[in-house]
Amino acid sequence: MALLMLLMLLISCVAAAPYFPPTCYTKVLSMAREIMERSAEVRRNPATGYCTVHLPNIYVDVHNACIMPKMRTYIFLLEGLPDRSCVRNRSVHKLTATIRQLHLIMAHKCHGDLHFSTDDCAALER
Ligand SMILES: *[C@@H]1O[C@H](CO)[C@@H](O)[C@H](O)[C@H]1NC(C)=O
Repeated sequence: MALLMLLMLLISCVAAAPYFPPTCYTKVLSMAREIMERSAEVRRNPATGYCTVHLPNIYVDVHNACIMPKMRTYIFLLEGLPDRSCVRNRSVHKLTATIRQLHLIMAHKCHGDLHFSTDDCAALER
């Protein structure tokens, strides 16, 4: 019973957040986290680390407008890696695909759900 009450409370809280319907905003947040985890893994793993270690760090803050050009640059860098076997590696490929997908969602599907609160490129390079 207590669990049910808690569940109902949670649901009403989610429904009460006017600008962030769980559909788009939550998806974007979890994809941002996924990209950072994948990118860390790709750099950490020796199989892909040797060819991606020179890439800039990507801090995916979806509230920062500069993330849009930043993601485009990152996709460009990943696809242009001189070592083709690295580009074709499943983990690298999946990372590139996830960034591309997040960019697409943020550019076309999140209207009204997502508001940039800053446009600060330097903040994304930490
Ligand atoms: C791709 O990279 C991952 C680490 O990011 C590694 O575990 C995997 O073995 C690599 N796959 C191939 C086919 O080299």
